[in-house]
Amino acid sequence: MIFNLFLIFAILFLLFFLSMIWPPDSPWAPWWRTDSSVAERICRLANVKRGEVIYELGSGDAQTLIAAAKTFNAKGVGIEIDPLRVFISKFFLRIKGLTKDVRIIRGNFFEEDLSKADVIFVYLVPKTLDKLLPKFRKELKKGTRIVSYRYKMKLKEVKVDKELQLYLYTI
Ligand SMILES: C[S@@+](CC[C@H](N)C(=O)[O-])C[C@H]1O[C@@H](n2cnc3c(N)ncnc32)[C@H](O)[C@@H]1O
Repeated sequence: MIFNLFLIFAILFLLFFLSMIWPPDSPWAPWWRTDSSVAERICRLANVKRGEVIYELGSGDAQTLIAAAKTFNAKGVGIEIDPLRVFISKFFLRIKGLTKDVRIIRGNFFEEDLSKADVIFVYLVPKTLDKLLPKFRKELKKGTRIVSYRYKMKLKEVKVDKELQLYLYTI
């Protein structure tokens, strides 16, 4: 009994430790997330307007979509592969009364159609950003704004928030 308890704690500790060093776009890295204050700055940088559609690729707990809907009256679509984060984001949306404004799709963003987006938000590692580029070029309508947090994309920058490492691009 005591050994089993010890084993459970050891596994939990190991998962907790690993979750801090795993890459940020891994479903096992819960500590890489966007704070609500940053989320608002993202919307300002992208100049999000009422009724526009924001897509968050790898939406985590959906703080940016929540800010976009609550403060800027936008519509949101989050695509998230990790069921736990899908559950958590839906929970937040319910609490904030935003279930009609923000939709969370449980799935792989490489397999979803992004053509309806006015703004795309990503907080993903450079390797994934590179892989997304051909999809962006193929699917996004002209003028779609993209904001990337922390990592630059191989696109021409339109604006930068150096303090928060936010990069704005357009297609
Ligand atoms: C660094 S976290 C950012 C979470 C959220 N966007 C934020 O800023 O707080 C990256 C997220 O992308 C998700 N993710 C990674 N690859 C994905 C994929 N192919 N399709 C959907 N979600 C993915 C991970 O599960 C994780 O929640």
